[in-house]
Amino acid sequence: MHKKLLAWYETYGRHSLPWRNTSELYHVYLSEIMLQQTQVNRVKEEYFPQFLEQFPSLQDLANAPLDAVLSAWSGLGYYSRARNLHATAKLAPNGLPQTPQELMKLPGIGRYTASAVCCFGLEANIPVVDTNIARVLKRYFALLSPKEATLWEYASEFVNAKEPRAHNLALMDLGSMVCLAKNPKCHECPLANSCLGKNEPELYTQRKKTKYESLDLFYGVCIQDEHIALRISKEKMYKDMLVLPAVDPIEENFIGEFKHAYTKYRIRVRLYRVEEIEQSMQWFPLSEIHNAPISSLTKKALNLL
Ligand code: ADE
Repeated sequence: MHKKLLAWYETYGRHSLPWRNTSELYHVYLSEIMLQQTQVNRVKEEYFPQFLEQFPSLQDLANAPLDAVLSAWSGLGYYSRARNLHATAKLAPNGLPQTPQELMKLPGIGRYTASAVCCFGLEANIPVVDTNIARVLKRYFALLSPKEATLWEYASEFVNAKEPRAHNLALMDLGSMVCLAKNPKCHECPLANSCLGKNEPELYTQRKKTKYESLDLFYGVCIQDEHIALRISKEKMYKDMLVLPAVDPIEENFIGEFKHAYTKYRIRVRLYRVEEIEQSMQWFPLSEIHNAPISSLTKKALNLL
């Protein structure tokens, strides 16, 4: 099975992804943080190259102000990732530790990220389990609702000691291209012969349905002399980013509305003109807004304006 898996990877694997063609640990680490909640293509084309251009080394990242890091992350969502990245760079400006145990002591690095960095960046002979690999393992070994720790044990048994990196990347690609959550392509799978779950693949991957929450948000807009009034957020979700102020809606001041999806929220955002601003707010030049730490939601609001 090891051989078949590697042969499949050789032919079909996503070898050209930039973070698979470097042994620079910082690059591998950055890619894993970006890929945690963002699609491969967005990371590959938009964010990964630009971020590295702006912060070529951990040292550069450590020396940068948090604002600049949040601005580079603008639009990617889950901004705590950017804050953790910055905090990690400050703790390890001269290089990341090289074991999962040490990496996991750093902010924002869990078992998956620590293992991925060591396996993909250093060829460590260790298992890696992300959601795609977990699905492959559950099916291949017919595991019904296994605990997280059980999956890691199976992954550890299965890892190919001679080619751990290619093995884990192959499982990852198999999960995202063949062993799909819905309608898996078992006829294309190199492991199908000995897959214990192949007759009932959907049995092993019953997913919890995401419960979406509807939200109405009302924001105030005050623009004077090409400047807009913004607040530095203290709330967890957008902490340290520039946001529009929340207001009580007064319908005669209504400007417009748009829809926005963020994490589990399905949001209707309504914008209102306001004449006066609170002390906690800052005037921000509209011409520099594209370089500011703002979220996609705020960008959409500015586009609408
Ligand atoms: N290659 C290495 N890590 C990856 C990830 N998290 N997603 C997609 N491809 C990867």
